[in-house]
Amino acid sequence: MAEIIYGFGTSHSPLLATKPEQWDLRAEADRQLPAHPYQGKTYSFDELVDLRKDENLAVQNKVEVRRERYDRCQNHLAFLSQEIERVAPDVLVIMGNDQREVFQTDHTPAFAVYHGDTVLNKALTQERLDAMRPGIAVSAWANVPEKEDVQYPGQPDLAYHIIKSVMADKFDVSASNQMPNGRFGENGIPHAFGFIYHRLMGDMKIRPVETVPIFVNTFFPPNQPSSERVLEFGKAVGKAIRSWDSDKKVAVAATGGFSHFVVDEEMDRRMFNAMVSGDEQSITSEPESNFQSGTSEIKNWIAAMGALDDTGLGFGVIDYIPCYRSEAGTGNAMMFGTWT
Ligand SMILES: [Fe+2]
Repeated sequence: MAEIIYGFGTSHSPLLATKPEQWDLRAEADRQLPAHPYQGKTYSFDELVDLRKDENLAVQNKVEVRRERYDRCQNHLAFLSQEIERVAPDVLVIMGNDQREVFQTDHTPAFAVYHGDTVLNKALTQERLDAMRPGIAVSAWANVPEKEDVQYPGQPDLAYHIIKSVMADKFDVSASNQMPNGRFGENGIPHAFGFIYHRLMGDMKIRPVETVPIFVNTFFPPNQPSSERVLEFGKAVGKAIRSWDSDKKVAVAATGGFSHFVVDEEMDRRMFNAMVSGDEQSITSEPESNFQSGTSEIKNWIAAMGALDDTGLGFGVIDYIPCYRSEAGTGNAMMFGTWT
């Protein structure tokens, strides 16, 4: 049977691919957004500035502080790239989400397993770049190939097995062997996954790894699965991998999170401490209203936590780095961790 040998997780924020001096581009988008979810309520940018004035976040938004945090993040990304090389899994199962890049309102699956022979990462067109919100285009280089589309190996045999196995475990997942055409008629893999393929794995030019992208609809109402359901789903996926009739070595990855676009360090600490100690109760009792917007991507980590349960691998934090880009507390708290 296949063996799960390793797990890792990484944030995939635009701030990881934007010079600290230019983080204000994203802060501009934050100002334009009328409602920011934060601790179960929604606030305008100005309301957040007022709400969080005692935290003195302007200090953490200074460019020297941004630079120090950005550099730390780059070191951790380099470390994770090396780790993937060192561990050399045959297959990588990636827990991630779409942000209306491929799944539109005409159909948004709660859970979807991709079982294509190959995974397509499309080079960006000018049309797509022009349609991006402020501060996204400048960071797109981290997610997609520069000039030409790239194909990565899928692992349809495992993907099929996962689909059948989780169905037997009462998870009625969507199945896809080709990404649907998104807003621009494009059907490349979304950025949450692209960041791992392109930024961390260098488009697999050195060593191809077979992959199974798994989608959790963390973001979009009304069918966001609860944290409890995501954890159970992850466990069903882990069980499926371990019952796959293959001698291949499998790693599991989580992409995204932690809190953004409003950073909530307290919630993040609750979540990653619970992952370290295996405290499922703390995770499943977190109010669903706290898993909104980008912060919802913590659920990709919860899915990975479930998949890595019962493998003897334990979660450890490499680093947690809250990166602020405004005095309103907007930004992205970066998380890097491994299951070893
Ligand atoms: Fe994302």
